[in-house]
Amino acid sequence: MSSSLPRLLVVTLGGTIASVAAADGVGAVPRLGPAELLASVPAAAGLADISVKSFRQYASGDLSLDDIIELAELIRERADELDGFVVTQGTDTLEETSYLLELLLGPIGRPVVLTGAMRNPSLPGADGPANLLAAIRVAVSPSAAGLGPVVVFADEVHLPRFVRKAHSSHVAAFRSPHAGPIGWVTEDRVRIPLAPSGYPAPLRPARFTRPLPTVGITKIGLGSAPLRPHHVEGLDGLIVEVFGGGHVPSTIVESLASVNESIPVVMVTRTGGGELYESTYAFPGSERDLLDRGLTSGRAFDAAKARLLLICLLASGAQRPDIKERFDTAL
Ligand code: SIN
Repeated sequence: MSSSLPRLLVVTLGGTIASVAAADGVGAVPRLGPAELLASVPAAAGLADISVKSFRQYASGDLSLDDIIELAELIRERADELDGFVVTQGTDTLEETSYLLELLLGPIGRPVVLTGAMRNPSLPGADGPANLLAAIRVAVSPSAAGLGPVVVFADEVHLPRFVRKAHSSHVAAFRSPHAGPIGWVTEDRVRIPLAPSGYPAPLRPARFTRPLPTVGITKIGLGSAPLRPHHVEGLDGLIVEVFGGGHVPSTIVESLASVNESIPVVMVTRTGGGELYESTYAFPGSERDLLDRGLTSGRAFDAAKARLLLICLLASGAQRPDIKERFDTAL
């Protein structure tokens, strides 16, 4: 007899949530598979008819963009036969993998919930089981069905376009600086009162140019020297983390403008919050100066997400006006 429970696929990619002591007993490495993760949350069996897939077994810094493109394809292919997806992985790159999935999938009519853990299962206060159970609750919740992928962590629901790993070790390491969490999980109740106003059309990896474009990130500091050609050699685009509302030392403006003549240069604030100005200052090296010289505003994006968006846009064949338009409207 078939179950009347929602059909859920739990896809595991490794990370701390799946890590146990290495063979020499020193440090933890990702070794647990989906069956072991689910064994830590017996209540899950009453919530969903769960199937599993061990997709990767990596520290999340070793995941590639192609891994996530393949994961997006798997989710798209199986969306008709399933009611939701939970993806477990390392926290180091969760803010990027979730955003890439948001770019590639948009709202596909099935919840896609990403989670992980800050403390591995052998540590006191391991948070993996609680995060996994909360993620499963969100993935079977009708309130998540109209959304694109979300990150569930420490009982909060975050939008990938905003979420950041904002602490190296705390169990509530994930924050959404601009928006805050869009929802939460309390006991068995899922509340998502703050859905986004919209999603841009999903990008189609089948149409991406190969190999994927290479986009670098440069952070400007006090007294930074002008960029030289070897700094951008081999790059197809550059993200520049600038001061405050969109400023750099006046001494490096020419070099940025010159780089922007050959590859798109997108600026983002290095402050960790807020949107770039566009008409507040006019000194050399101000946001007005940089915009007048053709640099693209990354608006309120952080560097990691701006890099992913630029890679996907370049891979889709986007030209400068399309890139500007997408950064202007993507949040
Ligand atoms: C990783 O990202 O794979 C290691 C760290 C973590 O999962 O928290």
